[in-house]
Amino acid sequence: MISRSLADGIQILRIDRPEKKNALTGAMYAALAEALEEGNTDDAIRCHLICGHPGAFTAGNDIADFLKYGVGGDAGDRPSGRFLKALVMNDKPLVAAVDGLAVGVGTTLLMHCDMIFASRQAVFKAPFVDLGLVPEAGSTLIGPKLMGNQWAFELLCLGETFDAERAEKAGLVNHVVDGDVEAAALDCARKIAGKPPAALAAARRLLKGDRDALLACIETETEIFTERLTAPETIATFEAFMGKKT
Ligand code: COA
Repeated sequence: MISRSLADGIQILRIDRPEKKNALTGAMYAALAEALEEGNTDDAIRCHLICGHPGAFTAGNDIADFLKYGVGGDAGDRPSGRFLKALVMNDKPLVAAVDGLAVGVGTTLLMHCDMIFASRQAVFKAPFVDLGLVPEAGSTLIGPKLMGNQWAFELLCLGETFDAERAEKAGLVNHVVDGDVEAAALDCARKIAGKPPAALAAARRLLKGDRDALLACIETETEIFTERLTAPETIATFEAFMGKKT
């Protein structure tokens, strides 16, 4: 459900569960985490490119899993945690090609990417509050830094849908692409893979700033998120989505 390939220094990570709009399961988080972790120690990997399918980058965390954690009360040690840590600790440039829905963590993971290409059919949405949750993945720290507080509030608290143009205006996306968005992202990844790797890694680290502050932010978000997962109002939104309520 995460397909991996490596060519010319570029590791392509494709989220591949189209029948569920690429919603992320525990196994998929683990596979993404592993790919990023391996990238840190493998000199053959100069850059990662993350992509989905036309129509769906990812619809975010699998809501059936959220419901399981919420109802089971065992929401503390979720596999998404390893993935979020891997995003923060990732040493290689991360390029994204978004050609459809990017919901929840599908939007917030992009805040850890370095270059984001979006097609005209890309849609960004972070409906955390509407689901009874809070924003995660360090988005409460990176979001306002990236976009300013107003845009961040609109995206992360109001849960407004941003189309590609709006996301570009907000600073979430580098380029809106007419035509083949993956080809554009791959071109950029090739450029990155051709740079002197140590200089690029050092420059990227300088831009990314304090990892400890980001990890601390994720820890705080996760504490609140985990509490929220078991709240009755939150469980009700998951049940409504899963069609368990009339
Ligand atoms: N978790 C689990 N299943 C999901 C999912 C998710 N996050 N997103 C989509 N799916 C499933 C649907 O249940 C459906 O499954 P089914 O065919 O077995 O019924 C299938 O994927 C297709 O989704 P559907 O809702 O029919 O497609 P759509 O084009 O009408 O709507 C979305 C797409 C993404 C807008 C809608 O599915 C949605 O709102 N998903 C939830 C997104 C979300 O809130 N994510 C969590 C953020 S924190």
